[in-house]
Amino acid sequence: EIERKVDTLLKRMTFDEKIGQLVQYSATEVHPEKLSGPSTAALNVNPPGPGGVDSYALAQNGELGSMLNTVGQSLTNHFQHAAVDNTRLHIPLLFGADVIHGFRTIFPVPLATASSWDPDLITDLAHMAAVEARTAGVNWFYSPMVDIARDARWGRCTEGAGEDPYLGSAIARAYIRGYQGDSLSASDSVAASVKHFAAYGAAEAGREYNTTDMSELQLRQVYLPPYHAAVEAGAATVMSAFNSLNGVPASANPFLLQTILRDEWGFDGLVVSDYTAVMELTHHGIALDPAMATEKAITAGVDIDMMSHYYDADLPALVKAGRVPMAVVDEAVRRILRLKFALGLFDHPFADGVEVTGAVVEHRPLVRRAAEESFVLLQNKPAPEDPLLPLAKSTKRIALIGPLADDASDMVGAWSGANNFGDVRTLLATMAELAQQNSATCTYAKGTEISGTSNSGFGAAVAAAQNSDVAILALGESSDMTGEAASRAFLDLPGNQQQLLEAVVATGKPVVLLVFSGRPLVLDWAAQHVSAVMEVWYPGVEAGPAIADILFGDVAPSGKLTMSFPRAVGQEPLYYNQLPTGRPIQHADPAHPGYVEMKFVSRYLDAPNDALFPFGHGLSYSTFGYSSISLSTQSISSSSLMRDRKRQPIAATATVTNTGKRRATEIVQCYINIRGASTEQPVRNLKGFTRISLDPGQSQTVQFPLGFNELSFYNAKAQPVVEPADYTVYIGGSSTAINAAHFVTTP
Ligand code: IFM
Repeated sequence: EIERKVDTLLKRMTFDEKIGQLVQYSATEVHPEKLSGPSTAALNVNPPGPGGVDSYALAQNGELGSMLNTVGQSLTNHFQHAAVDNTRLHIPLLFGADVIHGFRTIFPVPLATASSWDPDLITDLAHMAAVEARTAGVNWFYSPMVDIARDARWGRCTEGAGEDPYLGSAIARAYIRGYQGDSLSASDSVAASVKHFAAYGAAEAGREYNTTDMSELQLRQVYLPPYHAAVEAGAATVMSAFNSLNGVPASANPFLLQTILRDEWGFDGLVVSDYTAVMELTHHGIALDPAMATEKAITAGVDIDMMSHYYDADLPALVKAGRVPMAVVDEAVRRILRLKFALGLFDHPFADGVEVTGAVVEHRPLVRRAAEESFVLLQNKPAPEDPLLPLAKSTKRIALIGPLADDASDMVGAWSGANNFGDVRTLLATMAELAQQNSATCTYAKGTEISGTSNSGFGAAVAAAQNSDVAILALGESSDMTGEAASRAFLDLPGNQQQLLEAVVATGKPVVLLVFSGRPLVLDWAAQHVSAVMEVWYPGVEAGPAIADILFGDVAPSGKLTMSFPRAVGQEPLYYNQLPTGRPIQHADPAHPGYVEMKFVSRYLDAPNDALFPFGHGLSYSTFGYSSISLSTQSISSSSLMRDRKRQPIAATATVTNTGKRRATEIVQCYINIRGASTEQPVRNLKGFTRISLDPGQSQTVQFPLGFNELSFYNAKAQPVVEPADYTVYIGGSSTAINAAHFVTTP
């Protein structure tokens, strides 16, 4: 039905109208005074954009297909009326926006929600964002960001799910379900844009926009799976990345955009470039001028030019000169129209109903739960007897110290453009409220600024700590130290926060360190000197209450890291699923049978190899015991696995027991290692996980089914295979689990 409508419309379109569909701009306007209807000043329309572009005029003339980061009912309807009422064919606009972790009700950043290992929760959060955004005219999200990130220096790791392809794929599917629901035409669905295709997270040295270069084997085994999972889940659109991959910029890369995306994965949705990525082909040096950039981008498979001002300026001449076949333009337009029909925009182009303009009260409980599930308790040492956390509710004198305790903008993280900071419940506000309710005191001392250099606030901070029963430090990065264009060469606490921490610890008072960040930081000193350390990321509008719930034990922490926390920045890129080397450092423990004290092994002279806090790590207020693993078989034929890829003929089972004193949630993880195959395989790879909640003493048996998807890997020809090999399965509470069982695959 949709294809028929697209065909009919395409036949009626002029050449210029077709080009118009391929063009995307943000809201700009030249002559607002000539317009009837709402004042454009009130709508926050910008003056003419790059190249003097007046996007309102383009919309009126049918020369604009979609808009970027144009949100709000009046503003989107203003432009939509221009497109629908004034043009010959009444083709509606798409409104795309960077809704990355909530629209108005901002929830924790994606790296945080990934730490919940709870895809259903992520689906619910994504859907909540879609519901809110649709009321404001937004029908397309530039999300999910599914780039695998193994280098904490890269600021955009805050936007993704971390370093693991298996978990990243599960989370990619969760977002698509939440955004798109069962049907794009539903009034609470938005189209997703999976980004940034591809391998943007592998930017060399973690430096933003930098080159990526890798084998096809690594590309397919590590970086592509989450994009593929999102496409298989029905993602409507894909965003091409800024980076080059193996010498060819992703936004002009036929291997990525045609061979993999369309030919192998059968993707029939549209591809939008990243912001001015078509123009940047000239900077990459593969285009001499705008025409060459345009030709390379559109023939490679980029359908929409976001903000470059190249497709509208150069495509007409290129088509007339025969350098770009008309069929390529038609196909791009077809994909765009297909989405507009699928979203039901021809029937319902305008946003109506009650617009969501601020955080929604009914949405706050979900955000609070998400924040609680995303916090990762990194360390909780006795102080001096029991672990310091949770704090007794009867604690009378609390010192709250640090620049992150009272800054709403730094509770929400990067990419929270439609948020109102007034909606954020800060840590200080919550702690002050609780203190009042409990007849306790909460003394706040900022101590320093986030990037501070002055120690003048240290005295008050130290005095507050000295007069307290416990000092809670809220330290970390500002929101704008992560996200796009926010790479860091140092991963320490910024400014003089480390000195502030040391000054407070020197008081000898029990200290809880809350780390606000969008990436792993180097917390080596804190790990040695601070009793309790909890990573809280950027928690969103319910930051204060969620943190308090965990601090005082109303909720037990359950989050687990999805990126490795280094001991030193020089370890980056650092990830648990590394390949083995010919000279492994066997074990830090000289008693280990494989241990050899020698220089010529793969290691640093001045730091251990392993992470300070590894992938999958996270403590609770309870403890969990694991039984030995039982396997349903010790041997399986590799050729039968190759033939029947749906079956999961092996089950790995273990029983998990809550060995502590309170109900708590454990994220049970299953890893495998493969030896004896034709290509070397990671020392271990995640292949299953589940969240279980247990009462004290309660046990639950957990089963991980294993089949082709879990047991296959890529051979030297970059094909997925199962070969005769030895497999080790690990089940436990982190990537360092030692509970193991073995089986083999036979010919
Ligand atoms: O969607 C984003 C992308 O992730 C980074 N560059 C800008 C785009 C549009 O805002």
